[in-house]
Amino acid sequence: MTTGNTQNAQKKIILSGIQPTGTITLGNYLGAVQNWQRMQADFNSIFFIADLHALTVRREPAEFRQTAINFFAQLLACGISPENAIIYFQSHVRQHAELAWILNCNTYVGEASRMTQFKDKSAKHADNVNMGLMDYPVLMAADILLFNSDLVPVGIDQKQHLELTRDLAIRFNNRYGETFKVPDGYIPKTGAKICSLQDPTAKMSKSDPDQNATVSIIDDEATIVRRFKRAVTDSGAEICVREDKPGISNLITIYSAIENKSAAEVEREFEGKGYGDFKIAVGEAVAARFKPIREEYARYISDKEYIAKIAKDGAEKAAVLAERTLRKVKKKVGLTSF
Ligand code: TYM
Repeated sequence: MTTGNTQNAQKKIILSGIQPTGTITLGNYLGAVQNWQRMQADFNSIFFIADLHALTVRREPAEFRQTAINFFAQLLACGISPENAIIYFQSHVRQHAELAWILNCNTYVGEASRMTQFKDKSAKHADNVNMGLMDYPVLMAADILLFNSDLVPVGIDQKQHLELTRDLAIRFNNRYGETFKVPDGYIPKTGAKICSLQDPTAKMSKSDPDQNATVSIIDDEATIVRRFKRAVTDSGAEICVREDKPGISNLITIYSAIENKSAAEVEREFEGKGYGDFKIAVGEAVAARFKPIREEYARYISDKEYIAKIAKDGAEKAAVLAERTLRKVKKKVGLTSF
Protein backbone atom coordinates (compact mmCIF):
# COMPACT_ATOMS: atom_id res chain seq x y z
CA MET A 1 0.00 0.00 0.00
CA THR A 2 1.15 3.51 -0.71
CA THR A 3 0.01 6.74 0.83
CA GLY A 4 0.01 10.36 -0.22
CA ASN A 5 -0.15 11.36 -3.86
CA THR A 6 1.77 8.38 -5.19
CA GLN A 7 -0.38 6.04 -7.24
CA ASN A 8 -1.91 2.98 -5.67
CA ALA A 9 -2.67 0.22 -8.17
CA GLN A 10 -5.73 -0.90 -6.20
CA LYS A 11 -7.45 2.44 -6.41
CA LYS A 12 -9.39 3.78 -9.37
CA ILE A 13 -8.30 7.00 -11.00
CA ILE A 14 -10.28 10.23 -10.90
CA LEU A 15 -9.29 13.31 -12.83
CA SER A 16 -10.80 16.72 -13.30
CA GLY A 17 -9.87 20.29 -14.17
CA ILE A 18 -11.10 23.83 -13.79
CA GLN A 19 -10.48 26.86 -15.98
CA PRO A 20 -8.89 29.81 -14.18
CA THR A 21 -11.18 32.74 -14.94
CA GLY A 22 -12.65 34.99 -12.27
CA THR A 23 -12.86 33.00 -9.05
CA ILE A 24 -14.30 29.59 -8.16
CA THR A 25 -18.08 29.96 -7.88
CA LEU A 26 -20.73 28.23 -5.84
CA GLY A 27 -21.65 26.37 -9.06
CA ASN A 28 -18.11 25.05 -9.56
CA TYR A 29 -17.96 24.13 -5.90
CA LEU A 30 -21.22 22.17 -5.71
CA GLY A 31 -20.95 20.71 -9.22
CA ALA A 32 -17.33 19.63 -9.01
CA VAL A 33 -14.80 20.77 -6.40
CA GLN A 34 -16.76 19.58 -3.37
CA ASN A 35 -16.82 16.10 -4.89
CA TRP A 36 -13.12 16.22 -5.64
CA GLN A 37 -12.52 16.97 -1.99
CA ARG A 38 -14.81 14.18 -0.83
CA MET A 39 -13.47 11.58 -3.25
CA GLN A 40 -9.76 12.39 -3.27
CA ALA A 41 -8.64 9.97 -0.56
CA ASP A 42 -10.47 6.98 -2.01
CA PHE A 43 -9.01 7.31 -5.50
CA ASN A 44 -5.76 8.06 -7.26
CA SER A 45 -6.71 11.70 -7.72
CA ILE A 46 -5.46 14.12 -10.34
CA PHE A 47 -6.69 17.73 -10.45
CA PHE A 48 -5.39 20.56 -12.57
CA ILE A 49 -5.85 24.20 -13.44
CA ALA A 50 -6.95 24.11 -17.08
CA ASP A 51 -4.96 27.17 -18.13
CA LEU A 52 -4.53 26.01 -21.75
CA HIS A 53 -8.31 25.75 -22.06
CA ALA A 54 -8.70 29.27 -20.73
CA LEU A 55 -6.56 30.66 -23.57
CA THR A 56 -9.44 30.07 -25.98
CA VAL A 57 -10.78 33.44 -24.82
CA ARG A 58 -8.53 36.55 -24.97
CA ARG A 59 -6.93 37.27 -21.60
CA GLU A 60 -4.82 40.06 -20.23
CA PRO A 61 -1.55 38.13 -19.59
CA ALA A 62 -0.57 39.53 -16.17
CA GLU A 63 -4.09 39.19 -14.81
CA PHE A 64 -4.46 35.71 -16.27
CA ARG A 65 -1.22 34.53 -14.64
CA GLN A 66 -2.37 35.84 -11.25
CA THR A 67 -5.84 34.31 -11.65
CA ALA A 68 -4.30 30.90 -12.33
CA ILE A 69 -2.24 31.12 -9.14
CA ASN A 70 -5.30 32.30 -7.19
CA PHE A 71 -7.23 29.28 -8.47
CA PHE A 72 -4.52 26.94 -7.30
CA ALA A 73 -4.71 28.50 -3.82
CA GLN A 74 -8.51 28.27 -3.91
CA LEU A 75 -8.36 24.54 -4.63
CA LEU A 76 -6.01 24.06 -1.69
CA ALA A 77 -8.37 26.15 0.44
CA CYS A 78 -11.27 23.87 -0.55
CA GLY A 79 -9.34 21.01 0.99
CA ILE A 80 -7.84 19.55 -2.16
CA SER A 81 -4.68 18.26 -0.60
CA PRO A 82 -1.29 17.30 -2.02
CA GLU A 83 -1.40 14.44 0.51
CA ASN A 84 -4.22 12.90 -1.49
CA ALA A 85 -3.99 14.30 -4.97
CA ILE A 86 -1.64 15.33 -7.73
CA ILE A 87 -2.39 19.03 -8.29
CA TYR A 88 -0.80 21.04 -11.11
CA PHE A 89 -1.11 23.55 -13.93
CA GLN A 90 -2.09 21.92 -17.24
CA SER A 91 0.45 24.02 -19.19
CA HIS A 92 3.30 22.58 -17.12
CA VAL A 93 2.70 19.11 -18.50
CA ARG A 94 3.39 19.27 -22.25
CA GLN A 95 1.89 15.82 -22.88
CA HIS A 96 -1.63 17.33 -22.73
CA ALA A 97 -1.05 19.38 -25.88
CA GLU A 98 0.89 16.63 -27.60
CA LEU A 99 -1.82 14.02 -27.16
CA ALA A 100 -4.43 16.59 -28.18
CA TRP A 101 -2.70 16.89 -31.58
CA ILE A 102 -2.81 13.15 -32.18
CA LEU A 103 -6.46 13.01 -31.10
CA ASN A 104 -7.19 15.95 -33.41
CA CYS A 105 -6.16 13.80 -36.31
CA ASN A 106 -8.79 11.29 -35.20
CA THR A 107 -11.61 13.78 -34.60
CA TYR A 108 -14.00 14.93 -37.30
CA VAL A 109 -14.65 18.63 -37.80
CA GLY A 110 -18.35 17.78 -37.89
CA GLU A 111 -18.43 16.26 -34.40
CA ALA A 112 -16.33 19.07 -32.88
CA SER A 113 -18.50 21.78 -34.40
CA ARG A 114 -21.65 20.14 -33.03
CA MET A 115 -20.58 20.71 -29.40
CA THR A 116 -23.09 22.95 -27.61
CA GLN A 117 -20.42 24.89 -25.71
CA PHE A 118 -18.56 25.61 -28.94
CA LYS A 119 -21.72 26.99 -30.48
CA ASP A 120 -22.55 29.05 -27.36
CA LYS A 121 -19.04 30.42 -26.98
CA SER A 122 -18.76 31.20 -30.68
CA ALA A 123 -21.91 33.27 -30.41
CA LYS A 124 -20.64 34.99 -27.26
CA HIS A 125 -17.17 35.74 -28.67
CA ALA A 126 -18.16 36.29 -32.29
CA ASP A 127 -15.05 38.42 -32.90
CA ASN A 128 -12.73 35.62 -31.79
CA VAL A 129 -13.97 32.24 -33.00
CA ASN A 130 -10.49 30.73 -32.94
CA MET A 131 -9.37 27.16 -33.65
CA GLY A 132 -8.82 26.56 -29.94
CA LEU A 133 -12.48 27.16 -29.21
CA MET A 134 -13.48 24.33 -31.50
CA ASP A 135 -10.60 22.15 -30.40
CA TYR A 136 -11.33 22.65 -26.72
CA PRO A 137 -13.15 19.29 -26.19
CA VAL A 138 -10.33 17.40 -27.92
CA LEU A 139 -7.82 18.89 -25.49
CA MET A 140 -10.19 17.90 -22.71
CA ALA A 141 -10.30 14.34 -24.08
CA ALA A 142 -6.50 14.33 -24.07
CA ASP A 143 -6.48 15.50 -20.42
CA ILE A 144 -8.69 12.60 -19.43
CA LEU A 145 -7.24 9.84 -21.61
CA LEU A 146 -3.61 10.61 -20.75
CA PHE A 147 -4.14 9.32 -17.22
CA ASN A 148 -6.36 6.28 -17.85
CA SER A 149 -9.02 8.00 -15.78
CA ASP A 150 -11.89 5.85 -14.55
CA LEU A 151 -14.13 8.65 -13.33
CA VAL A 152 -14.37 12.32 -14.18
CA PRO A 153 -16.25 14.35 -11.53
CA VAL A 154 -17.86 17.32 -13.30
CA GLY A 155 -21.08 19.32 -13.54
CA ILE A 156 -23.73 18.49 -16.13
CA ASP A 157 -22.45 21.10 -18.60
CA GLN A 158 -19.42 18.88 -19.32
CA LYS A 159 -21.47 15.78 -20.17
CA GLN A 160 -21.33 16.27 -23.92
CA HIS A 161 -17.54 16.70 -23.78
CA LEU A 162 -17.27 13.45 -21.82
CA GLU A 163 -19.32 11.67 -24.44
CA LEU A 164 -16.96 12.91 -27.12
CA THR A 165 -14.02 11.70 -25.00
CA ARG A 166 -15.56 8.25 -24.83
CA ASP A 167 -16.21 8.23 -28.59
CA LEU A 168 -12.61 9.22 -29.31
CA ALA A 169 -11.23 6.57 -26.95
CA ILE A 170 -13.36 3.85 -28.51
CA ARG A 171 -12.52 4.98 -32.04
CA PHE A 172 -8.79 5.03 -31.29
CA ASN A 173 -8.93 1.62 -29.64
CA ASN A 174 -10.77 0.18 -32.64
CA ARG A 175 -8.35 1.69 -35.10
CA TYR A 176 -5.05 1.02 -33.32
CA GLY A 177 -5.78 -1.66 -30.74
CA GLU A 178 -6.61 -1.38 -27.04
CA THR A 179 -4.91 1.81 -25.79
CA PHE A 180 -7.23 4.02 -23.76
CA LYS A 181 -9.49 3.29 -20.85
CA VAL A 182 -13.03 4.51 -21.65
CA PRO A 183 -13.91 6.88 -18.76
CA ASP A 184 -17.21 7.53 -17.04
CA GLY A 185 -18.53 10.84 -15.82
CA TYR A 186 -19.33 11.38 -12.17
CA ILE A 187 -22.12 13.92 -12.03
CA PRO A 188 -23.65 14.69 -8.62
CA LYS A 189 -27.37 14.07 -8.06
CA THR A 190 -27.74 17.45 -6.36
CA GLY A 191 -25.73 20.42 -7.60
CA ALA A 192 -24.84 19.30 -11.14
CA LYS A 193 -26.32 22.53 -12.46
CA ILE A 194 -26.47 25.52 -10.15
CA CYS A 195 -28.23 28.40 -11.81
CA SER A 196 -27.59 32.14 -11.88
CA LEU A 197 -29.11 34.03 -8.95
CA GLN A 198 -30.35 36.66 -11.40
CA ASP A 199 -31.55 34.38 -14.20
CA PRO A 200 -32.44 30.99 -12.72
CA THR A 201 -32.97 29.53 -16.19
CA ALA A 202 -29.24 29.97 -16.99
CA LYS A 203 -26.25 28.25 -15.40
CA MET A 204 -24.21 30.18 -12.82
CA SER A 205 -21.04 31.15 -14.65
CA LYS A 206 -17.64 32.48 -13.51
CA SER A 207 -17.61 34.91 -16.39
CA ASP A 208 -21.06 36.43 -15.77
CA PRO A 209 -20.58 40.23 -15.83
CA ASP A 210 -23.52 40.67 -13.42
CA GLN A 211 -21.93 40.37 -9.97
CA ASN A 212 -25.27 39.67 -8.35
CA ALA A 213 -25.69 36.53 -10.43
CA THR A 214 -22.90 34.56 -8.78
CA VAL A 215 -21.34 33.83 -5.43
CA SER A 216 -17.65 33.10 -5.09
CA ILE A 217 -16.14 30.73 -2.55
CA ILE A 218 -13.99 33.61 -1.27
CA ASP A 219 -16.78 36.20 -0.91
CA ASP A 220 -17.36 37.46 2.62
CA GLU A 221 -20.49 36.68 4.59
CA ALA A 222 -22.19 40.05 4.06
CA THR A 223 -21.70 39.85 0.28
CA ILE A 224 -23.02 36.29 0.10
CA VAL A 225 -26.12 37.02 2.17
CA ARG A 226 -26.79 40.21 0.17
CA ARG A 227 -26.58 38.31 -3.15
CA PHE A 228 -29.06 35.73 -1.89
CA LYS A 229 -31.42 38.42 -0.59
CA ARG A 230 -31.38 39.90 -4.10
CA ALA A 231 -31.83 36.52 -5.80
CA VAL A 232 -34.63 36.52 -8.35
CA THR A 233 -37.55 34.38 -7.19
CA ASP A 234 -40.86 33.42 -8.71
CA SER A 235 -44.46 34.43 -8.27
CA GLY A 236 -46.42 32.69 -5.50
CA ALA A 237 -45.26 32.08 -1.97
CA GLU A 238 -44.70 28.35 -1.65
CA ILE A 239 -41.19 27.01 -1.11
CA CYS A 240 -41.10 23.92 -3.31
CA VAL A 241 -39.31 22.46 -6.32
CA ARG A 242 -41.49 22.98 -9.39
CA GLU A 243 -40.81 23.56 -13.06
CA ASP A 244 -42.59 26.91 -13.02
CA LYS A 245 -40.50 27.98 -10.00
CA PRO A 246 -36.92 27.99 -11.31
CA GLY A 247 -35.73 30.61 -8.81
CA ILE A 248 -36.96 28.86 -5.67
CA SER A 249 -36.03 25.45 -7.08
CA ASN A 250 -32.45 26.66 -7.58
CA LEU A 251 -32.29 27.95 -3.99
CA ILE A 252 -33.65 24.63 -2.70
CA THR A 253 -30.99 22.77 -4.70
CA ILE A 254 -28.26 24.98 -3.24
CA TYR A 255 -29.53 24.57 0.30
CA SER A 256 -29.92 20.77 -0.06
CA ALA A 257 -26.41 20.42 -1.48
CA ILE A 258 -24.86 22.53 1.28
CA GLU A 259 -26.85 21.00 4.15
CA ASN A 260 -26.83 17.49 2.69
CA LYS A 261 -30.63 17.24 2.86
CA SER A 262 -33.13 16.05 0.29
CA ALA A 263 -35.35 18.59 -1.47
CA ALA A 264 -38.37 17.14 0.36
CA GLU A 265 -36.68 17.71 3.72
CA VAL A 266 -35.93 21.31 2.77
CA GLU A 267 -39.52 21.85 1.66
CA ARG A 268 -40.75 20.54 5.02
CA GLU A 269 -38.25 22.66 6.96
CA PHE A 270 -39.51 25.86 5.32
CA GLU A 271 -43.19 25.05 5.09
CA GLY A 272 -45.24 28.16 5.83
CA LYS A 273 -42.17 30.42 5.75
CA GLY A 274 -41.77 33.31 3.30
CA TYR A 275 -39.32 33.72 0.43
CA GLY A 276 -37.44 36.43 2.34
CA ASP A 277 -36.63 34.20 5.30
CA PHE A 278 -35.69 31.32 3.03
CA LYS A 279 -33.29 33.43 0.96
CA ILE A 280 -31.52 34.60 4.12
CA ALA A 281 -31.28 31.02 5.42
CA VAL A 282 -29.71 29.84 2.15
CA GLY A 283 -27.29 32.79 2.13
CA GLU A 284 -26.24 32.11 5.71
CA ALA A 285 -25.73 28.40 5.08
CA VAL A 286 -23.54 29.12 2.05
CA ALA A 287 -21.61 31.82 3.94
CA ALA A 288 -20.98 29.42 6.83
CA ARG A 289 -19.62 26.79 4.45
CA PHE A 290 -17.34 29.27 2.69
CA LYS A 291 -15.98 31.07 5.77
CA PRO A 292 -13.20 28.55 6.52
CA ILE A 293 -12.41 28.34 2.80
CA ARG A 294 -11.97 32.12 2.62
CA GLU A 295 -9.70 32.03 5.66
CA GLU A 296 -7.60 29.19 4.29
CA TYR A 297 -7.37 30.98 0.96
CA ALA A 298 -5.87 34.06 2.62
CA ARG A 299 -3.26 31.81 4.19
CA TYR A 300 -2.34 29.92 0.99
CA ILE A 301 -2.26 32.91 -1.32
CA SER A 302 0.28 34.63 0.90
CA ASP A 303 2.63 31.65 0.57
CA LYS A 304 3.67 31.64 -3.09
CA GLU A 305 6.65 29.40 -2.37
CA TYR A 306 4.41 26.65 -1.05
CA ILE A 307 2.13 26.93 -4.08
CA ALA A 308 5.14 26.75 -6.40
CA LYS A 309 6.48 23.70 -4.61
CA ILE A 310 3.18 21.79 -4.73
CA ALA A 311 2.61 22.76 -8.37
CA LYS A 312 6.10 21.71 -9.43
CA ASP A 313 5.89 18.44 -7.59
CA GLY A 314 2.42 17.80 -9.05
CA ALA A 315 3.55 18.55 -12.61
CA GLU A 316 6.54 16.23 -12.28
CA LYS A 317 4.38 13.36 -11.09
CA ALA A 318 1.70 14.01 -13.71
CA ALA A 319 4.31 14.15 -16.48
CA VAL A 320 5.67 10.72 -15.58
CA LEU A 321 2.19 9.17 -15.76
CA ALA A 322 1.24 11.09 -18.90
CA GLU A 323 4.43 10.15 -20.71
CA ARG A 324 3.68 6.45 -20.27
CA THR A 325 0.42 6.83 -22.18
CA LEU A 326 1.84 9.21 -24.75
CA ARG A 327 4.73 6.89 -25.57
CA LYS A 328 2.29 4.04 -26.13
CA VAL A 329 0.07 6.21 -28.34
CA LYS A 330 2.98 7.45 -30.46
CA LYS A 331 4.07 3.89 -31.07
CA LYS A 332 0.54 2.79 -31.99
CA VAL A 333 0.09 5.50 -34.59
CA GLY A 334 3.46 4.71 -36.14
CA LEU A 335 5.64 7.61 -35.06
CA THR A 336 9.34 6.78 -34.99
CA SER A 337 11.43 6.63 -31.85
CA PHE A 338 15.12 5.82 -31.48
P1 TYM B 1 -15.17 24.95 -15.79
O1 TYM B 1 -13.92 25.64 -15.41
O2 TYM B 1 -16.16 25.71 -16.61
O3 TYM B 1 -15.92 24.44 -14.52
C1 TYM B 1 -15.28 23.65 -13.54
C2 TYM B 1 -16.24 22.60 -13.04
O4 TYM B 1 -17.41 23.21 -12.47
C3 TYM B 1 -18.58 22.67 -13.08
N1 TYM B 1 -19.57 23.75 -13.17
C4 TYM B 1 -20.78 23.72 -12.61
N2 TYM B 1 -21.40 22.78 -11.88
C5 TYM B 1 -22.65 23.07 -11.44
N3 TYM B 1 -23.28 24.24 -11.69
C6 TYM B 1 -22.70 25.21 -12.41
N4 TYM B 1 -23.33 26.36 -12.63
C7 TYM B 1 -21.38 24.96 -12.91
N5 TYM B 1 -20.52 25.70 -13.65
C8 TYM B 1 -19.43 24.93 -13.80
C9 TYM B 1 -18.15 22.20 -14.45
O5 TYM B 1 -19.01 21.20 -14.94
C10 TYM B 1 -16.76 21.68 -14.16
O6 TYM B 1 -16.81 20.36 -13.66
N6 TYM B 1 -13.80 22.04 -19.58
C11 TYM B 1 -13.83 22.16 -18.14
C12 TYM B 1 -12.44 22.05 -17.52
C13 TYM B 1 -11.67 20.86 -17.94
C14 TYM B 1 -11.91 19.51 -17.54
C15 TYM B 1 -10.92 18.74 -18.21
C16 TYM B 1 -12.83 18.91 -16.69
C17 TYM B 1 -10.61 20.85 -18.81
N7 TYM B 1 -10.17 19.59 -18.95
C18 TYM B 1 -10.85 17.34 -18.04
C19 TYM B 1 -12.75 17.53 -16.53
C20 TYM B 1 -11.79 16.77 -17.20
C21 TYM B 1 -14.42 23.49 -17.76
O7 TYM B 1 -14.40 24.43 -18.52
O8 TYM B 1 -14.83 23.57 -16.49
